[in-house]
Amino acid sequence: MALQLGDEAPDFTTESTQGTISLHDYLGNGWGVLFSHPADVTPVCTTELGEVARLKPEFEKRNTKVIGLSVDPVDSHNSWASDIKDATGSELNFPLLGDPDRTVANLYGMIHPNANTTATVRSVFIIGPDKKIKLIITYPASTGRNFQEILRVLDSLQLTAEYQVATPVNWKDGEDVIITVAVSDEEAKDKFPKGFTAVKPYLRYTPQPNR
Ligand code: BEZ
Repeated sequence: MALQLGDEAPDFTTESTQGTISLHDYLGNGWGVLFSHPADVTPVCTTELGEVARLKPEFEKRNTKVIGLSVDPVDSHNSWASDIKDATGSELNFPLLGDPDRTVANLYGMIHPNANTTATVRSVFIIGPDKKIKLIITYPASTGRNFQEILRVLDSLQLTAEYQVATPVNWKDGEDVIITVAVSDEEAKDKFPKGFTAVKPYLRYTPQPNR
């Protein structure tokens, strides 16, 4: 069965551009983003990998390691790296897994045969410190991802793991959040000392509690 939110992220040990990686050990107590791209030396993938490299400090601020993957071998990733630098200005500074036998791609369901029988689609998995899958998204090969959105989801996941809140549509770090329905108005007064505004009894906004 396909992986779902809340499932344990399957562990694996495999080769990468930064040596052998065992997923669970590599992530330690932090968060992880595991994402696949269809193929090396392709235009959209080049822009994506450059962007993830540029954003690496933003992932680090969130205690998050990023790991890329395609079914190409590590040698191919390594020779593509100079193109990524030329084209985007960013050095490939995070591990890219080589997966020519598709072990990891199959573990994570990254090959969608009705889209492409051999290449991985653009899958993203966010993995929490408990090694559980917190987010799954899938894009087609023709559409480059918005990695600012992945950072935005990480902010939401990390906030909602700490506080009894949820984040509304289009929320960004620093904006008001929603108090979950499990919290009564009485409790909310204690838990959210900055106060709250009830637009509906079930829709109560409060300033972001960790700001
Ligand atoms: C690309 O990265 O541009 C790409 C890769 C595979 C299929 C289509 C586009």
